[in-house]
Amino acid sequence: MDSADPASRRLTIDRSSLGHRLRYAVRNPRRIGPHLRRGARDVWLRARHRDHVAYYRAVMASDTARSPEAAVGSRDHERWLALGKLQFDYLRDHGLAPGHRMLDIGCGNLRAGWRFIDYLDPGGYYGIDISPDILISAKETLSGRGLQAKLPHLTLTRDLTFDFLPSGHFDVVHAHSVFSHSPLPVIDECLAHVGRILAPGGFFDFTFDRTEGREHQVLREDFYYRAETLTELAAGHGLTARLMADWERLPHGQSKIRVTAGTPGGAP
Ligand SMILES: C[S@@+](CC[C@H](N)C(=O)[O-])C[C@H]1O[C@@H](n2cnc3c(N)ncnc32)[C@H](O)[C@@H]1O
Repeated sequence: MDSADPASRRLTIDRSSLGHRLRYAVRNPRRIGPHLRRGARDVWLRARHRDHVAYYRAVMASDTARSPEAAVGSRDHERWLALGKLQFDYLRDHGLAPGHRMLDIGCGNLRAGWRFIDYLDPGGYYGIDISPDILISAKETLSGRGLQAKLPHLTLTRDLTFDFLPSGHFDVVHAHSVFSHSPLPVIDECLAHVGRILAPGGFFDFTFDRTEGREHQVLREDFYYRAETLTELAAGHGLTARLMADWERLPHGQSKIRVTAGTPGGAP
């Protein structure tokens, strides 16, 4: 990729830099007002909630009150449907089978979750989230789709230690657009514990906002990491992580990593 390539530019931009923010403002003047309002709200919420998870839960409460679909990152219903389908199609084509037991971390309002629930055998889907507001919206999605008989689990969580879940249970663990909103200690906590709950041969797929430049964050809402940072973090917990190259070709701005138990050449 050369530096004039939009994909290459996307991977090297530092969105926290003053230069980028000024250039963006000049190109998108109508976004200045909403961005300043969001920034002011976030300063207020951060002052009230020092812990990241508590802060992000408050962000989700505020966003969900306006629109649950926008709160999970979709500008309209059509896009909400398309993003759910994108996740579902990819996972079904990359190993998900109806008899699997799946944990969906940060399940949101079941944008993809309802498709997983529909596809999996009854009881096969387990969704967790830090936001009670979005979980209420998840239940509305579930009943709206008539999927009650599939008896999925939807559980509120405060951390990613999975201490309430059994060992060796999940064939598939999934986190879409969750680490893109997570500081490194949250990701580290997840990687430290996910190996325990993975079934033999199981895998953990997650998306993240990738940078090939300086790692940075915007408003403590969006976090940009180098792929190596996350693969090394996984290796430190005895896991193998690889970038899913074919995901990059899909119309989605994030990258995807698949994690499996064991380090390359090491014992699982
Ligand atoms: C952008 S939304 C994506 C939701 C869903 N995965 C999807 O693709 O539709 C991110 C979700 O992750 C949740 N979340 C953020 N940080 C989390 C954490 N540390 N543990 C669990 N859920 C988290 C948010 O509450 C929100 O519902």
